[in-house]
Amino acid sequence: MQDHPQNILVTGGAGFIGSSLIRYLLEKTTALVINLDALTYAGNLASLADIETHPSYRFVHGDINDASLLADILAKHRPSLIMHLAAESHVDRSISGAAEFIRTNVCGTYVLLDECLRFYRALTVSEKEQFRFVHISTDEVHGSLEREDAPFSESTRYAPRSPYSATKAASDHLVRAWYYTYGLPIIVSNCSNNYGPRHYPEKLIPLALMKMLHGENIPLYGNGTQIRDWLHVDDHCAALWEIACRGRIGESYIIGSGREICNRDLLQLLCSIMDELAPRADAACHQESIVSVTDRPGHDARYAIDATKLRSDLAWQPNIPLEEGLRTTVRWYLDHRAWWQPLWENQVARAL
Ligand SMILES: NC(=O)c1ccc[n+]([C@@H]2O[C@H](COP(=O)([O-])OP(=O)(O)OC[C@H]3O[C@@H](n4cnc5c(N)ncnc54)[C@H](O)[C@@H]3O)[C@@H](O)[C@H]2O)c1
Repeated sequence: MQDHPQNILVTGGAGFIGSSLIRYLLEKTTALVINLDALTYAGNLASLADIETHPSYRFVHGDINDASLLADILAKHRPSLIMHLAAESHVDRSISGAAEFIRTNVCGTYVLLDECLRFYRALTVSEKEQFRFVHISTDEVHGSLEREDAPFSESTRYAPRSPYSATKAASDHLVRAWYYTYGLPIIVSNCSNNYGPRHYPEKLIPLALMKMLHGENIPLYGNGTQIRDWLHVDDHCAALWEIACRGRIGESYIIGSGREICNRDLLQLLCSIMDELAPRADAACHQESIVSVTDRPGHDARYAIDATKLRSDLAWQPNIPLEEGLRTTVRWYLDHRAWWQPLWENQVARAL
C-alpha cells in the first residue's frame, strides 16, 4: 500500500488487542478509525475510555453477522483498510461451548468478507489499489509442536486441535478463498500469544495476577511444561501496521517474539516480579501459591515462531523484552484496579 489509509474499520476494537491497536492507529496515523464491536463479555469500552472523544475515533455497537449494518458502515465511512479482529478468543470457553465460536469466527467472518467484497467491487480502480482486508489470526491454527520440531512458519501446514483454533483456521481459509476466488485483496496474520495491559482476567497472565492480588492459589495446567512464544501486544500492533501498509496481497505473515518459555517458568517470572512490586503480607514468595490443576483436554504442547519473513520483508522486530514487558504489565494492573475490579467480580460470580 503506497498511501496511508484515510479511513480504517477495526472489528473487535473493544477487546484486548483491538483496543491497543486503535490506540496505536490514532497515534501513528491521521486516519478516521471506526470500531465495530458487539461488546460481548470480552468487549470493554473502559479499555478505550482515554480515546473515546478523540476526533478521529468512532464507535459502532454491532455484530459482524449483521450484513445490513456492515453495508451501512462501509457506505458511510468508505474505509480503505479493514482490520478484522472480532472473534471469540478463549480456548477453554470453546471447549465448553463451541457454538459462539462458529457463529462469530466462521459465520461472522463470512458475512464480513461478503459485504467487503460487495463494497470493493463498486470502488474505482485507484480506490481498489488502496483497499486491504487484514485478517488477524493466531499461530494456534498450526496445532502443536514437539520439542525437536522446527518453529511454525508461513509454510507450516494447518492442524488446529481446539474448537477455537479450528474456527480460526476455518476463517483463515475463507479469507484466502475470497482472494483466490473473487480477488478481494487480503492479508492474513498469525500471531503467537499476546500479553499486556487490558487483558481479560480469564487468560493465563492476568488470571495469575488476580489470584496473587486476592491471596488465592495460582492455577497451572498439568505440569506447566507447555511452551509458548509470548509477544507484547504493542509489538503485535506495530507488526499489524507494517503488514497493513507494506504486506503483500494474498500472503500471510507469522508474528512472534522468538522467545520460548514454558508456562511454569512464565508464572515463576511473574511471581518474582510481584514479590518485588506487590509483596505478600506474610513476606512469602508468591510462587509458593502455584498449584497444578487438571490439564486442559488436547492442550497443545508447544508453539514456536519463525518470524523471518516479517523481519526480512517488512523490517519488523519486537522491541519489548519479555521481562520488561511483564514488569510494565504488572505495574499497569496494579495501577488500574478500577479497570479489572468489575471484570474480576463478574468472573468470580460466574464461577460460583
Ligand atoms: N490474544 C492473543 O494472544 C491472540 C493471539 C493471536 C491472535 N489473536 C486474535 O486476535 C483477535 C483479537 O484477540 P483478543 O485477544 O483481543 O480477543 P478478545 O476476546 O479480547 O476481544 C474480542 C473482541 O471481539 C468482539 N466480538 C466478539 N464477537 C463479535 C461479533 N460477533 N461482532 C463484533 N464484535 C465481536 C468482543 O466484544 C471483543 O471486544 C482475535 O481474532 C484472536 O483470534 C489473539
